[in-house]
Amino acid sequence: MAVIIRGLRDVYVTETRMSLVDGEAGRLIIGGWPVEAIAPNACYEEMLHVLWHDRLPNAAELKQLRQDITAQRALSPRTIEALRWAADKHLPPMDALRLGADTLCLEDPAPGDRDQATNLKRAIAIVARFPTIVATYWRLMNGQAPIAPTTDLGHAENFLYMLDGKKPHPEAARGLETYLNTVIDHGMNNSTFTARVIISTRTDMYSAIVGAVGAMKGPLHGGAPEPAMDMVFEIRDRAAQSGRSVAAEAEDWVRHTLSAGDRIMGFGHRVYKVRDPRCDVLGAVAGELLQRTGKGRLYEDARTIESAVLRLMEEHRPGRGIKTNVEFYTALVLHGVGLTPELFPSTFAISRVGGWTAHVFEQIAEDQLVRPQVAYVGSDNREWVPLEAR
Ligand code: SDX
Repeated sequence: MAVIIRGLRDVYVTETRMSLVDGEAGRLIIGGWPVEAIAPNACYEEMLHVLWHDRLPNAAELKQLRQDITAQRALSPRTIEALRWAADKHLPPMDALRLGADTLCLEDPAPGDRDQATNLKRAIAIVARFPTIVATYWRLMNGQAPIAPTTDLGHAENFLYMLDGKKPHPEAARGLETYLNTVIDHGMNNSTFTARVIISTRTDMYSAIVGAVGAMKGPLHGGAPEPAMDMVFEIRDRAAQSGRSVAAEAEDWVRHTLSAGDRIMGFGHRVYKVRDPRCDVLGAVAGELLQRTGKGRLYEDARTIESAVLRLMEEHRPGRGIKTNVEFYTALVLHGVGLTPELFPSTFAISRVGGWTAHVFEQIAEDQLVRPQVAYVGSDNREWVPLEAR
C-alpha cells in the first residue's frame, strides 16, 4: 500500500553540507557557521566561496573571486534586448529575471561542457549577472537608460549603484550584504529542490537555475515579502485615517484576513515551528537602517503588527507553531535599504542563486535521477469506444 507524503513534508531526499535548518530549535547553520555569526560579518563573495569550496577564502582567493565576478557583470546586447521586450510588457521583475537568465546561455563559450571547472565559471557568470539583469530591467521598466555595472564596488554595493547611479550609503550597502548572506541558502527549500530535480537529469545549469527562479516567484515562497510590506503600509494608513492606534487597526485587519481564510505573508514555515532565526539577524539590520533614515516609527509599528499577528494566529491555529518567518523582516530591511517592494523577490533570487548553484554542484556529484512514485487513482481496464459510438 503506497504511503503518500503530500508536499514531501519532513521527507529527507539527500544529504548536503550547505546548510542545516533546525526547525525545532530555530537554528540555521550555513556552511558550518550559525547564521548570526557569519551573515553580519562576511561579504557575499565570501559566502559563495564557503558554499562552493567549503571554507572561507584567504585574501588572494577573495581578491581573485571578486575579480572573476566583476569581469562577468556586464550583459550582452541580446540579454538587454530581451529585457527591453519584457519592459514593453511591464512584466514583474521575477518574470524578467527568468527571461534574462535564460538568455545567458547564448554567451556561453562551451555550452555542452559539463565538467566541474566549466560549471564553476558558469556559476560565477550567472551569479555575477543576476544583479545586472534585475537593475537593468528595473530601469528599462521605468523608462530609464540602464546603468553599466562598476568594477570597483562589491556585489551588494554594485547592485544598489546600478539602480540609481549613486554610490550607496555604507550602512545601506552593509544592510543589503547582511541580507544577501542571510538568505543565500536554506536547506531543501522549494526552489533549491527544483534546481536539484532539474539538474538530476544531467541537463545544463541554465535549465536548473531558470526553473528555480520560476519556483521562487510564488507567494508561498519568495513572493511573500512584497505583500508582507503592503500589509504593514495598509494597516498604518488605516490608523492615520481613522485616528485609531496601529494596534487596534492591526487587530481588525488580521482578524478579517484570517476569518476570510487568507494567508498572512511573512508568517508560518514548513520547517520552523519556532521563530525563524533569520528574523533576529535581519531585525537588527532593519532597526538600524530605518532609524538612520528617520523611519524608526515604521519599525516600531511593524513590531506592533507582528505581535498582533502572532497572538491572533495562535488563536486561529492553536499549537501549530505559526511564527514570524524571514520574509517579514526581509521586507523591512529591503525597504530600509531603499528598494521598492516590487524588487523584493528578485533581490531574494540575487542572493539564493548562490545556494542554487552550490546545490547544483552537489547534485551533479551525487548523479542520482530524482524520480519519485505516484499512487494511481484513475480508472483502469477501460474498453475503446469508436468516435461514432460516443
Ligand atoms: C520562505 O522552505 C523554506 O525554507 C522557504 C524559505 C527559504 O529561505 O527558502 O524559508 C523562504 O519561503 C518563507 C515562507 C514565505 N511564505 C510565506 O510567508 C507565505 C505564508 N506562509 C504560509 O503560506 C505557510 O506558512 C507556508 C507555505 C510557508 C508553510 O506552509 P505549511 O508548512 O505547508 O503549512 P500549512 O500550509 O499546512 O499550514 C498549516 C495550517 C493551515 O491551516 P489548515 O488549512 O491546516 O487548517 O496553518 C495555516 C494554514 O491555513 N497557516 C496560515 C499561515 N501559515 C499557515 N494561515 C494564515 N497565514 C499564514 N501565514
